Amino acid sequence: MAQFTKEIEKRRTFAIISHPDAGKTTLTEKFLLYGGAIASAGMVKGKKSMKHAVSDWMEIEKQRGISVTSSVLQFEYDGYCINILDTPGHQDFSEDTYRTLMAADSAVMVIDASKGVEKQTIKLFKVCMMRDIPVFTFINKMDREARDPYDLMADIESVLGIKTYPVNWPIGSGKEFKGVYEREKERVLSFTYNGIGHEADEKVTAMDDPALKDMLGDTLYQTLIDDRELLDGAGDEFDLEAVRHGKLSPVFFGSALTNFGVEPFLENFLKMTTSPLPRTSSQGEIDPFNDDFSAFVFKIQANMNKAHRDRIAFMRICSGRFEKGQEVNHVQGGRKIKLSQPQQMMAQDREIVEEAYAGDIIGVFDPGIFSIGDTVCASSKKFQFEGIPTFAPEHFRLVRQKDTMKRKQFIKGTSQIAQEGAIQIFQEPGGGMEEVIVGVVGTLQFDVLEYRLKNEYGVDVIMEGLPYQYIRWVVGENIDVKALDLTSDTKYVQDLKGNPLLLFTSSWNIQWALDHNKELQLQEFSRS
Ligand code: G4P
Repeated sequence: MAQFTKEIEKRRTFAIISHPDAGKTTLTEKFLLYGGAIASAGMVKGKKSMKHAVSDWMEIEKQRGISVTSSVLQFEYDGYCINILDTPGHQDFSEDTYRTLMAADSAVMVIDASKGVEKQTIKLFKVCMMRDIPVFTFINKMDREARDPYDLMADIESVLGIKTYPVNWPIGSGKEFKGVYEREKERVLSFTYNGIGHEADEKVTAMDDPALKDMLGDTLYQTLIDDRELLDGAGDEFDLEAVRHGKLSPVFFGSALTNFGVEPFLENFLKMTTSPLPRTSSQGEIDPFNDDFSAFVFKIQANMNKAHRDRIAFMRICSGRFEKGQEVNHVQGGRKIKLSQPQQMMAQDREIVEEAYAGDIIGVFDPGIFSIGDTVCASSKKFQFEGIPTFAPEHFRLVRQKDTMKRKQFIKGTSQIAQEGAIQIFQEPGGGMEEVIVGVVGTLQFDVLEYRLKNEYGVDVIMEGLPYQYIRWVVGENIDVKALDLTSDTKYVQDLKGNPLLLFTSSWNIQWALDHNKELQLQEFSRS
């Protein structure tokens, strides 16, 4: 029993969020090096090795092959068992990226010090805030010319709306980067880059060490003294409870590429963040330390083998312990099943798991029975975890089959691919399925759809671009959408469940709709 508790307590399951190029891959790689999970840098597949022709599905699959193996990376470090969830970025940015965050207990937000908060970071951050999970900020690339650190902090606070607490503070940047001041330990971790290879030297010097002034030079030394006074006097207090509820983000400055400040970040982060958190279900909160195994599906991945159409369902374990071959209730399917070929990803390798604990992610073979958000549990008290929201897509196309004789296959294909969660389908109220509006979070999904419809369902399609940029769910029971006062280019549609939505060509039109219809409420996600 004690062992069971220990196993769960030592787990830390988090996602790294960032805008492309901020350094997510580089930072992940350094974490893996510390965990001994990889032997040398350059082993984690970066975007360069993933370059592909987007219209070629086999290439997409190849790429997905990579993202399967890196969907979650598990390794041990300093007595912790770490699960890093990969949030697909770049071209394969999709709803999966958002859903993956539902499986995390905290997030590490990587920000490029020369750029500040960027677009994709804002989107991912918003999803983290839906669950108030802790967010830790790593301001990266301090070895390059950076923006003023106060500006960067103000940017995070104003754009993202979260308070910040700098755990360390940079001394210069770019060619002048001398290191960071560690506030709690009252010492300087100095940065010396000899220009050879990528590793910088880290050296510790106490604040009261007379050598410090010489080391930093007069100007930077004086700036540090002033900054220290300002931070202690005017900054927010450190408050661990606020951190754990996503109200305060601890901020760290460093340079992932030169491996500077990464280990102190990892150590602080692991201490400050939480072990697996309880999850909300139809029967109240489910405690991770509960003996009964339970999990929910957060991602389904179509497999490479076209003949079998088999899929992998990724599950986040929410409570108890999982054993290979265990029989569980698939609550939404209403039957008992054996989770076959449970796999876990250890850095680069997929392995069959013998056992796993709350906080872990397992991938199981899915013969087509699972949907996103489904619950499996060992308990006879069949509960359901709170569903995974559907997020507003951002790109829209009108899709119809070329050959009207293929109507049935077209409907089957688009519906099945939508069920997997790769695309969303919308229709005009009362409209048929001959043509549908397809919405996606990342445009790569259009190519995936076209290729899969042709190859798996034998249907050629015509896609037409649409002028819409935003879609919002209409909230509230008694709203007559047809009676709303809207601009002429706003379109009323329904999702597959019949929920009403509005398509807008600009954010200005959204505001117009809200201003002219006082009872109207709009949401960027749907829970039903
Ligand atoms: P991502 O996963 O967030 O997209 O970013 P990634 O780690 O791939 O990093 C993007 C680029 O930024 C890479 O350069 C990487 O080497 C560089 N980089 C990451 N961290 C730092 C840092 O702390 N300092 C500096 N100076 N550069 C950093 P690239 O030229 O695009 O690719 P590569 O040739 O280095 O692989």
